[in-house]
Amino acid sequence: MSDSSAPWWRQAVVYQIYPRSFADSNGDGIGDLRGILSRIDYLKSLGVDAVWLSPFYPSALADGGYDVDDYRDVDPKIGTLDDFDDLVAALHAAGIRLYIDIVPNHSSNRHVWFQQALAAAPGSPERDRYIFRQGAGPDHAAPPNDWIAAFGGSVWEPVGDGWFYFHLFAPEQPDWNWDNPEVREEFLTTLRFWSDRGVDGFRVDVAFGLAKDLSEPFLTQEQVKAMLPGANHPYFDRDGVDEIYRGWREVFNSYDPPRVAVAELWREYSSRKARYATMESLGQAFFFDIMFAGFDAGRVRKVVEDVLGWAAESGSSSTWVLSNHDIVRHASRLGLPDPEPHDAEAVVDDCRRWLLSRGAEPVEDVAGGLRRARALTMLLLALPGSTYLYQGEELGLREVADLPDSARQDPTFFLNTGYDVGRDGCRVPLPWTSDGPSFGFGTGPAHLPQPAWFADYSVQGQETDPASTLNLYRAALRLRRGLEGPEELEWLDAPTGVLRFARPGGWHCVTNFTGRPVEMPDGQVLVASGPLSDGSLPGETTVWLRTEDAR
Ligand code: NOJ
Ligand code: CA
Repeated sequence: MSDSSAPWWRQAVVYQIYPRSFADSNGDGIGDLRGILSRIDYLKSLGVDAVWLSPFYPSALADGGYDVDDYRDVDPKIGTLDDFDDLVAALHAAGIRLYIDIVPNHSSNRHVWFQQALAAAPGSPERDRYIFRQGAGPDHAAPPNDWIAAFGGSVWEPVGDGWFYFHLFAPEQPDWNWDNPEVREEFLTTLRFWSDRGVDGFRVDVAFGLAKDLSEPFLTQEQVKAMLPGANHPYFDRDGVDEIYRGWREVFNSYDPPRVAVAELWREYSSRKARYATMESLGQAFFFDIMFAGFDAGRVRKVVEDVLGWAAESGSSSTWVLSNHDIVRHASRLGLPDPEPHDAEAVVDDCRRWLLSRGAEPVEDVAGGLRRARALTMLLLALPGSTYLYQGEELGLREVADLPDSARQDPTFFLNTGYDVGRDGCRVPLPWTSDGPSFGFGTGPAHLPQPAWFADYSVQGQETDPASTLNLYRAALRLRRGLEGPEELEWLDAPTGVLRFARPGGWHCVTNFTGRPVEMPDGQVLVASGPLSDGSLPGETTVWLRTEDAR
């Protein structure tokens, strides 16, 4: 849906693959690169512009692969560099670009440089690549401060000699010291390594975390928690990130076409996001705000306006995301009651408590969740900018809320016993067929157990059903390509609870957020998120219309 002179990524549909859960080529239960290669036709039939691969690097999987042992290799359980080259070639031959995940805030504790740091003495150049501090107290046995890591527990891990290393996430994920020139140079080498292999773009993990000021005296955890991310925060969203990404930009621009990037930023950073998305920096940033708007005309419109504004501020395009590997799938999220009052924290907390109950309380409205998910997705796909889809959402897949504890992998579960079961429920391997071992994911098992109801969501079952969610996504993506136009949107009058906007090129998107039918606006229906009845737009339904008066 881009205008022909605009860079390819500005309005691209990017499909996120979590490699260990997409397709398994050798029956060992773990998705792999050859599995992805065997599904290129599927990706092509879906009509996506690009694929983003979550980490496929060698890893002990302390955090689903976001604990990287070696940034310039493929995990042998997932494939080889040759497989990777074949995948790039096959995607490109199919007209699909490739983003890979880059994890610059932390490595794994098995990275060779971290192993060297542990073996070296305090104060050595080897230790300076990470963040080490001497413990507090007379025998240096206490952590240097009381800060809490994102997954729970202290940010400090003792190494046995009175010193501690710093980790914002799991203890197996030591943070790099970005003040160290060797670290900076190493990442530039990695960016060139993959760019040389034909990678088109990078999704930058924890993009806001790299610059840190850990000088003493430390603020307390309470003080840090009360601070807004920004220039004075000790580790989030400091101005120092700008300089780092200026260096990355030089690498991106040394390629033709220039390599691109998208910054992972949590919603708290919205007001300062524009700086990550400029063409001097990473070029694009995620705006997750829409994930927390629920299914409500007023809240959705407000987020759309905010995001378009932030994107315009940076000169970049907007980004839309409803699901990824870190959050309860949106078909389930939209099947849970709205929190009251409604805000992002309440949505996150409700999802956490629902998962803790194994999906028992409250009872998920399965049909309603899917209906709303389809309607909201169609609205998103009609907006200017790029949309990021997460594998399985095109099947209308729900969260697997009742995984047995014995199957869990996410460190969030292990570090927050009895409080947060973590993110495994959205990472369960995809159902490709309606029966067979692992529903066609592979010839063997699935590394996270699939529930029996996955049979009803399989690709195979949806292929031939014109009303399936898979065919809805295909139709919308095909139309979207045809409805090329500039990144503009005009809100039009609509009844209460209905959003209607026009896009250049003569088409309108109308979403009825209410539970009742409303009068169908004039126009030729291009696609609808659900069944239509004569003359009316049913509740919780989106239509795309071609209208004569459309601009
Ligand atoms: C964000 C990633 O999306 C998430 O899966 C990971 O746990 C953290 N960053 C830490 O790398
Ligand atoms: Ca495998």
